[in-house]
Amino acid sequence: MKEVVVLVGTGSIGQAIARRVGAGKHVVLGDLKIEAAQVAAKIFEGAGFETSAIAVDISNRESILKLALHAQKFGAVKNLICAAGVSPSQAPVEKILQVDLYGTAVLLEEFGKIIAQGGSGVIISSQSGHRLGALTEEQNFQLATTPTEELLNLPFLKAITDTLKAYQYSKRCNVLRVAGQATSWGKRGATINSISPGIIITPLAADELKGPRGEGYRKMLEASPAKRAGTPDEVGDLAEFLMSSRGRFISGADFLIDGGTTASYWFGDLQYLKRTH
Ligand SMILES: NC(=O)c1ccc[n+]([C@@H]2O[C@H](COP(=O)([O-])OP(=O)(O)OC[C@H]3O[C@@H](n4cnc5c(N)ncnc54)[C@H](O)[C@@H]3O)[C@@H](O)[C@H]2O)c1
Repeated sequence: MKEVVVLVGTGSIGQAIARRVGAGKHVVLGDLKIEAAQVAAKIFEGAGFETSAIAVDISNRESILKLALHAQKFGAVKNLICAAGVSPSQAPVEKILQVDLYGTAVLLEEFGKIIAQGGSGVIISSQSGHRLGALTEEQNFQLATTPTEELLNLPFLKAITDTLKAYQYSKRCNVLRVAGQATSWGKRGATINSISPGIIITPLAADELKGPRGEGYRKMLEASPAKRAGTPDEVGDLAEFLMSSRGRFISGADFLIDGGTTASYWFGDLQYLKRTH
């Protein structure tokens, strides 16, 4: 039996993280698209990792339970990485809430029941969640602690009509949910954190930068403190630290990695975006 790393969402960000923590372990590569998981498995196997690929839909609890069972066949689950999600331009409101908000919450809940002693998890949220104004204390509490099957019935979630808001609430919820779950993960000797990346160059983001909205994105990046987009490897480095022995005092926390874009959005040169976001 080996220690097991479970990655859900086998895009470039997820792969960058799994490569940093997967050496000598069994790496389970799960994705809605089995072909995406298999392609990742081939790349990983070619680089010396032991892997298995599995189809998983995080918006479905049964599918998450199957993933957990599959992972435990290889050993104790030491790391969970969630880099699965749909973006505001990819899906309607209901789908975004079902996958990004509910699905992530169920994944945290189910893996919180099996995570190994000394284990750790990282959930990829987004800078988008930081562009939502302050919620009330009660809303924060509800997003952090409402039982998963009741989450999507919260009235302020049911009132959402546009996909950007659905994405922003989902990503805010990821951060709050991680904080809400830190106690139960802690009881198992495990840590759980979220990372909120800014624009990270992945095939999808690269297409957006070349597409019809590309000029707006390029302008935003040029005016941001870092003056560029991020790379999956930079997110991987942060996640590796959080999951390493050096990160054991860090749990229930969120880490923005956006080249200063959020700071500039609220207080600097990017304030013009508030009118359109
Ligand atoms: N790329 C960016 O600029 C950026 C910025 C901030 C946050 N993020 C977040 O990072 C994560 C990874 O994004 P990425 O850029 O690598 O995108 P990606 O599209 O390459 O990866 C996302 C993966 O999630 C999978 N997926 C979608 N729905 C799923 C479901 N229901 N169950 C299981 N898997 C599912 C997709 O098939 C895809 O392989 C996402 O949560 C995204 O919101 C990305």
